[in-house]
Amino acid sequence: MKILALILAAGKGTRMKSSKPKVLFESAGKPMIDYVINAAGSCGADAVNIVIGSGAEEVKAYVGGQAQFSLQQNQRGTADAVLAAADAIKQHGGHVLILCGDMPLVRAETLAGFIEAAKVHPVSFISVCVKNPFGYGRVVRGGGGSVIRIVEEKDACEQEKKINEINTGIYFCESSVLLDRLSRVGSDNAQNEFYLTDIVKEGAFAYKAKDESEFLGVNNRVQLAESAKVLWKRRAFKFMEQGVSVLDPDTFYADEETEIESDTEIYPNVYLHGKNVIKTGSVIMSGCRITDSLIDENCEIKDNCYITESKVGAGSSVGPMAQLRPGTVLEGENKIGNFVETKKAVLGLGSKASHLTYLGDAEIGRDVNIGCGTITCNYDGISKYKTVIEDGVFVGSDVQLVAPVKIGRGALLAAGSTITKDVPEDSLAMTRAEMKVKEGWVSRWKNAKNKGK
Ligand code: UD1
Ligand code: CA
Repeated sequence: MKILALILAAGKGTRMKSSKPKVLFESAGKPMIDYVINAAGSCGADAVNIVIGSGAEEVKAYVGGQAQFSLQQNQRGTADAVLAAADAIKQHGGHVLILCGDMPLVRAETLAGFIEAAKVHPVSFISVCVKNPFGYGRVVRGGGGSVIRIVEEKDACEQEKKINEINTGIYFCESSVLLDRLSRVGSDNAQNEFYLTDIVKEGAFAYKAKDESEFLGVNNRVQLAESAKVLWKRRAFKFMEQGVSVLDPDTFYADEETEIESDTEIYPNVYLHGKNVIKTGSVIMSGCRITDSLIDENCEIKDNCYITESKVGAGSSVGPMAQLRPGTVLEGENKIGNFVETKKAVLGLGSKASHLTYLGDAEIGRDVNIGCGTITCNYDGISKYKTVIEDGVFVGSDVQLVAPVKIGRGALLAAGSTITKDVPEDSLAMTRAEMKVKEGWVSRWKNAKNKGK
């Protein structure tokens, strides 16, 4: 069976109160239109055509080669939107599956089930019974139970508003019948629009879906947040099935591209943004935001870490409250403690920076100890310079390394030093003003002060 998926996405999205086209608003990390395109692609459609209008160029630029486009010049209603694609429909022949670009929750399996049941009817749509039908078109049925018409919220009388079976906005039609019926649709209604719903007046099969949560049409930002909640939660459940312990599925936020292996634990309020891989045995504690990063096996990312485009090698511990910026590579068994910031920094196996440190543009070997308060001074206001610290170096507390600088294998940098020159291996480097001790000075000073009173 030939099926053209037609996605309506030309509407103004007035209720979003935005200059951005509605279907490009992100729900759970991805523009709504992506979910609809994916569902269309996985349910058996062989081509996707998107009707664009408001913000057409933006939508087209975003979607790119994933679909073809039809332009609806003026947004005169959903029937007019379908007609804007009349040429594409005629050319394709076969059947048309009509979807709305503002329905990110619909599943491909549901669409496939619908198509299977609908293919013997000329015109079909999905209806569903909902708790709160406000804003949706209501399905009006006659005495025998057959569909008489769909009435929009704005056109419905009090009696009709009480109907809780709604039109989801998803249709499956024979193309010739669809185009024929569309030619008779008028705009004599409360919104003076050409309603696609009018095609059911000439008879239609209503396929009653079970799960109302799939058919949320996102018209405003409250519904956008509702849709995101459902999507995040679906992902949490998917991971739980795969062996991930999600402590609180209500506050678990993972983008679709993120992978999490089994026997991992994700604490509440964690945001896994973009393409991450979290390997087995690792634990991500509360409040972390991790973007495009690899967390290798058996790592512990403690509370409130911000990790971007970094690699955390196996057996490492990071945080609490650490920031790993792009280009950070922890080779393994590393410890990055509280208030440590790294950027373009490679730390060899077993190296540690346990507290209050900045490591930028640094190449650090194995088993290096970076003392509390260490700073790589990598920037002179114009250029960035590199710090190289070889294996086994011990950096005492409060050391500044003024780059470019190289510290040889096994060297020891004394606490409080400002290192401006390369240090050869196995050497002690110390830059300190000599300490003076004046015995009995405090009492003498206090006595002198008190006499003056
Ligand atoms: C529509 C249905 C309603 C259904 C609901 C399901 C009609 C008249 N009403 O109402 O029965 O319950 O969806 O969510 O069809 N669009 C265009 N061009 C236009 C107008 C709209 O492309 O001229 C697109 C929009 O971008 C959107 C879709 O069609 O993706 C639906 O339009 P929208 O205004 O959201 O319709 P609803 O009022 O939600
Ligand atoms: Ca809608």
